[in-house]
Amino acid sequence: MKEKIEALKLRFEEELKTAATEEAIEALRIAFLGKKGAVAELMTGLRDVADKREAGQLINEFKTAVETELSAAAAALKEAALKAEIRSAKKLNPSLLAKREFGSYHPITLATREVEEVFAGMGFTVEDYAEVVDDYECFEALNIPKHHPARDMQDTYYLENGQLLKTQTSAAQNAIMKKYGAPLRAIFPGRCFRNESTDACHENTFFQMEGMMIDENISISNLIYFMKTMLSEVFKRDIKVRLRPGFFPFVEPGFELDINCLICGGVGCPSCKNSGWLELCPCGMIHPNVLKAGGIDTEKYTGFAFGLGLTRLAMMKYGVKDIRDFNSGNLKSLSQFESL
Ligand code: DAH
Repeated sequence: MKEKIEALKLRFEEELKTAATEEAIEALRIAFLGKKGAVAELMTGLRDVADKREAGQLINEFKTAVETELSAAAAALKEAALKAEIRSAKKLNPSLLAKREFGSYHPITLATREVEEVFAGMGFTVEDYAEVVDDYECFEALNIPKHHPARDMQDTYYLENGQLLKTQTSAAQNAIMKKYGAPLRAIFPGRCFRNESTDACHENTFFQMEGMMIDENISISNLIYFMKTMLSEVFKRDIKVRLRPGFFPFVEPGFELDINCLICGGVGCPSCKNSGWLELCPCGMIHPNVLKAGGIDTEKYTGFAFGLGLTRLAMMKYGVKDIRDFNSGNLKSLSQFESL
């Protein structure tokens, strides 16, 4: 029995050396440990052996050794396969760029920058201002006291703490006058909010660009000159405009500056409420009460202010028919503009 086991051991070692695949190892396992395998055969032969105890022990030791070696061989094979896979895998090359889809500037951003550039060229500074403001800044400092009917025009989103989302960029006028004093030339673009029911030309969130010029001897002629220069530079073509009286408590006199609708050419369409004209830039001479609230000496200084409808300007400039496209996040319509 002892010799038999020794011979089997040698045979097993020899065959294990050449078992290079999972299948070969499995075949070896069946040949030695299977029901009709070598170990089972040894057990059958045990019947004829005198010292069964010793022979049984030898068979068991052999069986355990075969089991251990087979599972070690299987594990080594797996590890080698994994290493080979890692070696043959494509190496990561961080210098290779994936196909990149570039974004594009929002049309409002493009229009804002263009207007900013025009005014910067005329000596205006560009100011930034908050979106959450106080009642004082948005109304009272602008000559719109509590319960004034002009407040009804701007259906306001109030916050629980008494502040509000600014309904107009004019809300920054007071702070900017206090910050710089006179003389002053500043524009301040910003997002405005009103609880409007939306349609092709109304949105609850839109952009305006406010401007102020305060100095000695500022008159309506200065106002008209700056408005005309700005429009001709931004549109780069002749634009028909009309000026009509308009009421805003913070200017006196106040005007509505309309431009001919560039979407329909003036015949009338949903974008211009079928009038052929679009209110683009209400403006006027700053009311003395507003100047005083801003700490400006009204004996010495006068000024004009305007509230350009930036969103409307972008609609006209880029032929966007529906104002709701701007906030839609719809990349199909927004990505046609200049890419980064
Ligand atoms: N803030 C006004 C609005 O949103 C627009 C406006 C009118 C602004 C006249 C001005 C101005 O600066 O002078 O309805």
